[in-house]
Amino acid sequence: MTVLVTGGAGFIGSNFIFYELEKHPEDRIVCLDKLTYAGNLSTLKAVLEKPNFRFVKEDICHREAVYQLFEEEKPDMVVHFAAESHVDRSIENPGVFLETNIMGTAVLMDACRKYGIKRYHQVSTDEVYGDLPLDRPDLLFTEETPLHTSSPYSSSKAGADLLVMAYHRTFGLPVTISRCSNNYGPYQFPEKLIPLMIANCLADKPLPVYGEGKNVRDWLYVEDHCKAIDLIIRKGKEGEIYNIGGHNEMANIDIVKLILKELGKPESLITYVTDRKGHDMRYAIDPAKIHRELGWLPETMFAEGIKKTIQWYLDNKEWWETIISGEYQNYYREMYGNR
Ligand SMILES: NC(=O)c1ccc[n+]([C@@H]2O[C@H](COP(=O)([O-])OP(=O)(O)OC[C@H]3O[C@@H](n4cnc5c(N)ncnc54)[C@H](O)[C@@H]3O)[C@@H](O)[C@H]2O)c1
Repeated sequence: MTVLVTGGAGFIGSNFIFYELEKHPEDRIVCLDKLTYAGNLSTLKAVLEKPNFRFVKEDICHREAVYQLFEEEKPDMVVHFAAESHVDRSIENPGVFLETNIMGTAVLMDACRKYGIKRYHQVSTDEVYGDLPLDRPDLLFTEETPLHTSSPYSSSKAGADLLVMAYHRTFGLPVTISRCSNNYGPYQFPEKLIPLMIANCLADKPLPVYGEGKNVRDWLYVEDHCKAIDLIIRKGKEGEIYNIGGHNEMANIDIVKLILKELGKPESLITYVTDRKGHDMRYAIDPAKIHRELGWLPETMFAEGIKKTIQWYLDNKEWWETIISGEYQNYYREMYGNR
């Protein structure tokens, strides 16, 4: 079977490629990635030479090139990770989010219709459900929770989800969607909370925390997300949405303090900065459906996962130190410099 993975040079996509090549060595993986600031070919170094792996640098919005690739590879499945994924950037520049996350998804699905496909899988996010109040720990997002987005990022992801379901209903495209909570683990771009805090801690730089740091997220180790997607594409039912989450809610400030403790650094490094516009308070996923129907459960608990992640960033400094340079420095100054 040939699996086309978009966005495979990014955080979750690369982890998914490693997982698939290990778990299903009989399959061929084709990775399509534009290599935006968030994509890094060096991440895929270990698999680039494998005979059952191919990397193609291309934009998912580029219709002719996408069709050409489908013509060449005739993929049996598409697992669509490629996206603009950072909420802060979507507040600065919404346009590229609409282009990649919505139009790019449409191009891929048009290619699937034209060339035929066994399964198209859309990797979505819990952010499409909006947020929950902090004082109602009994409330969780289920697959039936109405879409209620806050940021241009989550709106573009919700728009893509609606389009995916429309292609299923209108054209009979065999689709599935997964909506996952916050991921952490190896190869996450250092603009996201956990790697940013680890990198700053190691450099004894201030740790910028939005507002009072009370915002709560449900954290899942990236490999558990990859395992869930692997199950959905092979055993999940067409036309279904599956929530994926770790039942591991933590306030941002507690994560930051935990990282400081693990790295033996003082809490005085914490610097509170002006909150993000429209910042969601709490996300919490109910993963009962995927557990009930596909037998999925998270395997890496947070206490173990965060230790593994910190160790990975300690062992792979070269990977992220190269990234924290040049253009990223300018972006960092713009985001946190005047807050
Ligand atoms: N990170 C999380 O916690 C999380 C949680 C739930 C869902 N998701 C979703 O999972 C997916 C992957 O997230 P991530 O954190 O790995 O993102 P990422 O930003 O690390 O990687 C995105 C990848 O997509 C590529 N890309 C971007 N625009 C492209 C385009 N136009 N054409 C081709 N490639 C393009 C980038 O080069 C990069 O390699 C996204 O769809 C995101 O919405 C992420």
